[in-house]
Amino acid sequence: MSRTPREAALLTELEPVVAENLDRHLGLAQEWHPHDYVPWSQGRDFAFLGGEDWSPEQSRLDETAKAAMFTNLLTEDNLPSYHREIATRFGRDGAWGTWVGRWTAEENRHGVALRDYLVVTRGVDPVELERARMDYMTSGYDSGDKTPLEAVAYVSFQELATRVSHRNTGKATGDPIADRLLARIAKDENLHMVFYRNIVSAAFEIEPDATMRAVADEVMRFEMPGATMAGFRKNSVIIAKAGIYDLRLHHDEVIQPVLRAWKVFERTDLGPEGERAREELAQFLAGLDAQATRFVESRDRMRARLQARADEALTPLPR
Ligand SMILES: [Fe+2]
Ligand SMILES: [Fe+2]
Repeated sequence: MSRTPREAALLTELEPVVAENLDRHLGLAQEWHPHDYVPWSQGRDFAFLGGEDWSPEQSRLDETAKAAMFTNLLTEDNLPSYHREIATRFGRDGAWGTWVGRWTAEENRHGVALRDYLVVTRGVDPVELERARMDYMTSGYDSGDKTPLEAVAYVSFQELATRVSHRNTGKATGDPIADRLLARIAKDENLHMVFYRNIVSAAFEIEPDATMRAVADEVMRFEMPGATMAGFRKNSVIIAKAGIYDLRLHHDEVIQPVLRAWKVFERTDLGPEGERAREELAQFLAGLDAQATRFVESRDRMRARLQARADEALTPLPR
């Protein structure tokens, strides 16, 4: 990927900030091992080795937990694409390059741990999972032609989105072992978010207008990386209905906290272009907030209807 001279200069200017945040990250990140989080005693052979193949009743996860685990694991699985995306944006040299390698190694651990857990506990169909992984990785993930600045803004939100979704998936499994594993992964995602968020903070100091534009654009066109995987739309609806990841969480727990950390609406250093981007962003957020409210209201109505139907079914018929 070719960079404009301005993009190259910004990456160089950010390099010391990357080095500092890389050190900070390495100081805070605790070593952990996927094998510790997997209940191996629950495992057994599949038919190929004389055991029994997967069947739906073996899973102790409900449909919601299955959909969320499946989506989260496949999202982690497409790491080679994400690596390509960030390696081409940030480069292989110096602190940027070291970060790209370290981040990739940490992310790979997430896929390893989730797959081991799901296969050992027979949480989801391993054949369906493998076929979906093949398809999704073969088609790959393409974030479009983001500039380095857009890429670093995007991942600030995306890492936090992943954190929220892993954390809430863990709670939704009803399994303390899965919950602990997903909480552990969520901690990593949070540190990744902090790293990228700090880089964007520094970019705001160097190029406030361009950074504001990149942030506004990335919020307005935000999409999770899994959007092209098999069953993504269907599974996202299940995930949203269960409150694992929905528009309300996206607005309140992902977009707003990151924008607050950058003091986006308090900055006094913007020129006309930055101001325009900020206004567009404010307008977009108002719309997103309203949409989130409508979604939660309709979900509440749906839950009330389901509850009423369940109550009715339990009420004995009059003789
Ligand atoms: Fe991850
Ligand atoms: Fe991450």
